[in-house]
Amino acid sequence: MRLSLKFILPLVLVLALITYALMPLVDQLTLKWFVRDLDIRSKLITDTMQLPLAELIQSDSRAKVSNFFNRVIRDERLYALGFCVQANELKFKTQTFPIDFNCTSEVKGENQSVVIKLSKGSLHFAKHAIDSEGKVIGQLILVHDMSFIERRSSDTKKYIFYLFIGLGIVISLMTVVIAQLSWRGWVAGMRALLKGEGLVKPLSQMNRPELLPLAKDLRALVRDLESDRRAKDESPISWTPKTLKAVLHDELAGDEILIVSNREPYIHNWKGEKIEVQVPASGLVTALEPIMRACSGTWIAHGSGSADRDVVDKQDHVRVPLEHPSYQIRRVWLTKEEENGYYYGFANEGIWPLCHIAHTRPTFRTQDWKHYSEVNKKFAKVVVEEAKTEDPVILLQDYHFALLPKLIREELPHATIITFWHIPWPNPEAFGICPWREEILAGLLGSSVVGFHTRFHCNNFIDTVDRFLEARIDKETSTISYGGKLTSVKNYPISIEWPSRWLKKQKPVNECRAEIRTINNMPKDILLGIGVDRLDYTKGILERFMAVERLLELYPEWIGKFTFVQIAAPTRTSIDQYQNFESQVRAMARKINDRFGRPGYEPICLKVEHHEPDMIYEYYRGADACMVTSLHDGMNLVAKEFVAAREDNQGVLILSQFTGAARELPEALVINPYNIDQCANALNIALTMPMTEQRDRMRSMRGLIQEFNVYRWAGRMLMDASRIRQRRRLMGRIQETENSLQEGPSL
Ligand code: G6P
Repeated sequence: MRLSLKFILPLVLVLALITYALMPLVDQLTLKWFVRDLDIRSKLITDTMQLPLAELIQSDSRAKVSNFFNRVIRDERLYALGFCVQANELKFKTQTFPIDFNCTSEVKGENQSVVIKLSKGSLHFAKHAIDSEGKVIGQLILVHDMSFIERRSSDTKKYIFYLFIGLGIVISLMTVVIAQLSWRGWVAGMRALLKGEGLVKPLSQMNRPELLPLAKDLRALVRDLESDRRAKDESPISWTPKTLKAVLHDELAGDEILIVSNREPYIHNWKGEKIEVQVPASGLVTALEPIMRACSGTWIAHGSGSADRDVVDKQDHVRVPLEHPSYQIRRVWLTKEEENGYYYGFANEGIWPLCHIAHTRPTFRTQDWKHYSEVNKKFAKVVVEEAKTEDPVILLQDYHFALLPKLIREELPHATIITFWHIPWPNPEAFGICPWREEILAGLLGSSVVGFHTRFHCNNFIDTVDRFLEARIDKETSTISYGGKLTSVKNYPISIEWPSRWLKKQKPVNECRAEIRTINNMPKDILLGIGVDRLDYTKGILERFMAVERLLELYPEWIGKFTFVQIAAPTRTSIDQYQNFESQVRAMARKINDRFGRPGYEPICLKVEHHEPDMIYEYYRGADACMVTSLHDGMNLVAKEFVAAREDNQGVLILSQFTGAARELPEALVINPYNIDQCANALNIALTMPMTEQRDRMRSMRGLIQEFNVYRWAGRMLMDASRIRQRRRLMGRIQETENSLQEGPSL
């Protein structure tokens, strides 16, 4: 509108000036036309008066001539009449005949006319001869009042003026409308190009041929950006905390980074009079901690430890890790009811079994959902409080916060929100049983990116959105447009830090072997299998024990020579299903030990307690085989940790085909955990595998994990965050240009 005014006003002014300058010309022209008209008119009147006037003149009756003249000048434009005889004597005239004029003063010659300007207006004088029987008897002088011409001329001027102004307005409006339309089209085309549409669809199909020259440059720009990132992403460079720091420095210089997860990386607990710091058994924590160390941001999490409140400052912050504080945790406090409803209830009795196809029924309670929604709101508030900038990079973790992306987006519309779903995403049928499926999907689509470990889970998510929401899905670019917002769905296979910090303090492998056998009172030469899990029904611990039992049935020579050590960290213990599961695991271990155990020998060594990571690494190093038999698992980092722990290139990994890790580690012995005989045979193969074969498999797996470590996982997400931000800024600049053009002086 402002642009239109700024364009229309000057144009109208210019046109008004032009019209004004043209006016004298218009005057002259109209005057010339009207004088010509009056000349013709005078001649016509003379011809009509000729005969009666000649007769009246002959009769020499003044009264009759006057009478005749007065009748003729009733015509409103004919002002006066006069009659001159030979000696230029004005013999007859109407009373209106101007006194200052006589036969000689006005029109000099015969049949001529003249315009005379008087103070009250102009008069037109015309002189025509009157004859009788071929002899001129005098001259008739016709005086026309020209005021009507002046009136007409000023009307004409007015109309011409208005016509020009009107024309000016119409032309400028049309120009502005056309310009606006083509500008909008141009901007839409640019946007499409930047979103990548023009890179996929030819511009001719997009009906934007004018963008062709520009598209080339833009394509090149976008390609440069993408290939630069791809180069970093695919390059064989080893990703380290330094590389990650460089990415943060180069790509997100000065940008604020926030992580949100339910589980905190360090838990402070009272043990007697002392406070102990615990690193929880969580794949998520294992993966994210090194990133936070590299980027020194803020990690927002539920403060769940008994001493958590005693170590925070006034803003509920605590700096960690204790030895070298490099980032801060912001603790969020939950009431018992909130924790029960949100964490135990909705997240772990609802979404967890819903997403893991492990044949445990999900339970959905309305009360839990209410708590889940409330806690998500609480975290959203804390995120907004912690954000120092209006566009932070926010890395949201896992199924505890499905509603959080949307809630944050409402408060911080410019934030780059990357939500990573650490567990599997099931197919639409399985997900569809959730009573709040639409809310969960809409919540997640508040993210800029939703990430999963595998492409398979991305596809399940896209299909689920397709089934339950009115969203526009582009499978080619893996993007979902919902409520006018674009979310891309990407796979980022999570990994572990390389080299692991837990290896630094480890003794050589042979010492670890000896030590774990000694502390468990086992013979020096016994072969050991190891399993490390939270005591969770998705981990396939019962199936694993059944496989050990079957091994001893099929290959009794292993009785007394092989023990399976299961480290099982208690988890979510107030949930019935977890309590039942623990009882089943304990019962099965007991049953197998009763069946095959001897004095001084137990085939299963079950350790239901929390172990610190350096202890776990010692077990990894001292074992001969590691069993990961999850019934369903997003990735499973135990598999990768076992490989990372084996610098000696020995040890065999038995890996469930239902883990994300199996897609990356085909050199493992990949099994179906439901096939007990197959698992038992895999154990036998593992225990008898030649050292050279163990070395070849292990080397190859180590090479992969070294290259695709957690720094690459985080780096890829952060580079995507940076790409999104650059595109947003570019779009912002286009918008600014658009605005300034609308406000600016020229179009
Ligand atoms: C899985 C989840 C994590 C969770 C971890 C431990 O790995 O994906 O979000 O932290 O289990 O479970 P917990 O309930 O103890 O945090």
